[in-house]
Amino acid sequence: MSEKRLYFYPVWLRIWHAINALGILILIFTGFFMHYGIHGDILDFSILVTLHNVTGIVLAANYLFFLFGNLFFNNYRFYRLKTKGLFDRLTRQALYYAFGMFKNQQPPFPLSEKRKFNPMQKFSYFVVMYLLVPLVIASGIGLLFPELIVEKVYNLSGVFLTAIFHAGLGFLIFVFLLVHLYAASIGKSPLKNFRSIVTGWHEPNH
Ligand code: HEM
Ligand code: HEM
Repeated sequence: MSEKRLYFYPVWLRIWHAINALGILILIFTGFFMHYGIHGDILDFSILVTLHNVTGIVLAANYLFFLFGNLFFNNYRFYRLKTKGLFDRLTRQALYYAFGMFKNQQPPFPLSEKRKFNPMQKFSYFVVMYLLVPLVIASGIGLLFPELIVEKVYNLSGVFLTAIFHAGLGFLIFVFLLVHLYAASIGKSPLKNFRSIVTGWHEPNH
């Protein structure tokens, strides 16, 4: 069990995370309004679309920053997912979240210099950062430049299918965000992890 303070989030990662969090909140908000066609005098539809598109481009550039940062500062090592025994590790962590932590049991995968994420964090961060976010960016770029998209798939318009795919991914990222915020509130105090992503320091739980 680690009792040390650990410097988990260096400055570049905190800058990336802040831009990413704000960007995704704006994209979810504007995307939701666009999808349901909710707009009025203050929130003009064209303002929503412009805000969505500009934020989308900023998010895409910021994602490249994340990829290069991970590579240069070796942060990618925390995202390496080993498939052997994965289900078992996820189950142990889920049982801890569902029962163990309410009985004050020790976490099955204590964090350390070598293990920044527990198995559920690692799995969800891996899926969101290496699958969902790149796909939402790729489909968003497709919608920005519709000439890149195939015109018809059978009888359906390619742009229509891309828009459904894009909005579906956006919904999944929204669900991730809700779980992420709940999971981040688990610890010695609900705000402890939120302080860490601002200061960079992970404080021990015991
Ligand atoms: C988490 C991130 C994102 C979410 C939640 C999201 C959500 C949405 C939603 C719900 C729509 C409406 C689709 C429909 O129902 O027809 C939409 C449209 C669109 N999105 Fe995103 N999006 C995200 C990221 C991006 C990114 C990164 C880009 C650009 C690189 C982008 C570009 C676009 C474009 C161009 C449209 C079509 C706008 C129009 O109607 O003219 N989006 N998005
Ligand atoms: C209001 C929005 C958000 C808040 C308050 C927030 C909060 C946090 C906190 C407290 C941590 C560090 C503790 C932990 O790992 O649980 C963290 C890490 C992380 N968050 Fe968020 N988050 C937000 C949005 C997002 C979004 C939208 C994404 C991705 C789409 C994201 C991806 C990540 C990743 C990948 C890490 C780990 C980074 C690393 O150490 O390599 N977060 N976040």
